[in-house]
Amino acid sequence: MLYLENLTKSFGSFVANDHISFNVDTGKIHAILGENGAGKTTLMKMISGLYQPDAGQIYIQDKPVKITSPNTATKLGIGMIHQHFMLIPQLTVTENIILGWENSWRLNLRTKQQEIAALSQAYGLEIDPTAKVEDLPVGIQQRVEILKVLYRQAKLLILDEPTAVLTPLEVDSLIIILRQLAAAGNTIIFISHKLEEVINLCDTVTILRRGKVIATTTTKAATPQKLAELMVGHKVDLHINKSPASLGKVILLVQNLQVADDRGITAVRDVSFQLHSGEILGIAGVDGNGQRELADAVTGLRKIRQGKIEVKKSSTIAYIPEDRQKIGLILQFSIAQNLILKAFKKLPFCRNYLLQPAVIKNHAQAAMQTFDIRATGEDIKVSQLSGGNQQKVVLARELAGEPNLIVAMQPTRGLDVGATAAVHSQLLAERDRGAAILYISTELDEIMAMSDRIAVIYRGEFAAILDAQTATVEEIGLLMAGRKTIK
Ligand SMILES: Nc1ncnc2c1ncn2[C@@H]1O[C@H](COP(=O)(O)OP(=O)(O)OP(=O)(O)O)[C@@H](O)[C@H]1O
Ligand SMILES: [Mg+2]
Repeated sequence: MLYLENLTKSFGSFVANDHISFNVDTGKIHAILGENGAGKTTLMKMISGLYQPDAGQIYIQDKPVKITSPNTATKLGIGMIHQHFMLIPQLTVTENIILGWENSWRLNLRTKQQEIAALSQAYGLEIDPTAKVEDLPVGIQQRVEILKVLYRQAKLLILDEPTAVLTPLEVDSLIIILRQLAAAGNTIIFISHKLEEVINLCDTVTILRRGKVIATTTTKAATPQKLAELMVGHKVDLHINKSPASLGKVILLVQNLQVADDRGITAVRDVSFQLHSGEILGIAGVDGNGQRELADAVTGLRKIRQGKIEVKKSSTIAYIPEDRQKIGLILQFSIAQNLILKAFKKLPFCRNYLLQPAVIKNHAQAAMQTFDIRATGEDIKVSQLSGGNQQKVVLARELAGEPNLIVAMQPTRGLDVGATAAVHSQLLAERDRGAAILYISTELDEIMAMSDRIAVIYRGEFAAILDAQTATVEEIGLLMAGRKTIK
């Protein structure tokens, strides 16, 4: 279906893709693995017509092609589902799907809605074609993206980290959908940092390291450990080593908290807990059960309706928000500027009302070293960084200056195995230094491994707060699904 021959792409003097060659057979699911910044998205953007290669050749079904625009890609049967979704929130599902594609002079929306309803049924992708995209959960928005490329009759589907934003249940249903699509003769390129998922779903895998192909192999004989080593180039410890917690004073006290979501509907109800210095309280739950509103309320970004939140006097708070692009960063600012967003009015970054460029630059270079932010310089815009490296900028800013309370929501989303391990050990070091950490994640494994206590949130309420040492995956799973309550 696809053959790449020596594809090369540079940004300035930086070579993002260096003589990339491999092929993908028709009807197969092929994974692309690589560290953050290895060049996965860049490569996919060349295949989908968003970037032009500097050198090399793409073949589709043995024919050399020049993919000069996304439209050309579409006509060749190539459809890409992007790492950061490209839907227009204010439009409906149908409007989003036909946007830029329907050019008949008279548009009958009702017919289109019926067509899309039929298509979604044919592929088992349940969607209401009249729903507004902004009202849909992420998992469903992704189905819209998939449906959009299927509507354009794509035969080669590229999914760039599709599971990063999904809940475990949504991942299972995506995997079923992708298997069906492959069985029907479609070819799929699948990018993910979750190695088990890759082994479980994909037939073959190409591993990139710093812009070069390191290996292309079948996943049959692969193990997560082996794949991680190929990606990183040395041995990696995938296991989280945690010492017992030594608790200090109460840093955060939440009592009978009630918070509403953006539409005024109660999202958090009657939540009470204490969080101590030196402790990680994990919040487990299916996405959309009030986690976002809870995090916003604790960090002071959202008004509370009832109850109280008390943070120990003169505590500093760090917030790693779920959506790095919307809330965590200013994309049009440089790395250096993003790193001082919370401190630019203060010494040493500002002196006599003047920003201090040399100090800001040094600060950025040091942070880039510590957090392994891979970019050509501290002055490049954050919008040009790879997804994982954007996340590292948020972490570098928020974890600077020894915060007393850290609210971390999906802190490792989109990070490669090495960076994930680094964030885990950084947060554990913060805990051991005495920080109180509220750790919110939809990844149950991560919650189990990182937390000292685990609260399970379901429909805005804490179904239980458990000791992480004795809690079991089965028990938490049931609580997350609202099947059991212990108070
Ligand atoms: N438009 C651009 N201008 C300058 N540099 C860029 C641009 N796009 C990508 N890069 C650089 O190319 C490298 C590869 O980026 P790419 O987005 O392909 O990585 P990736 O493998 O998808 O990483 P991740 O897993 O973090 O998403 C990065 O170092 C990035 O900073
Ligand atoms: Mg990427």
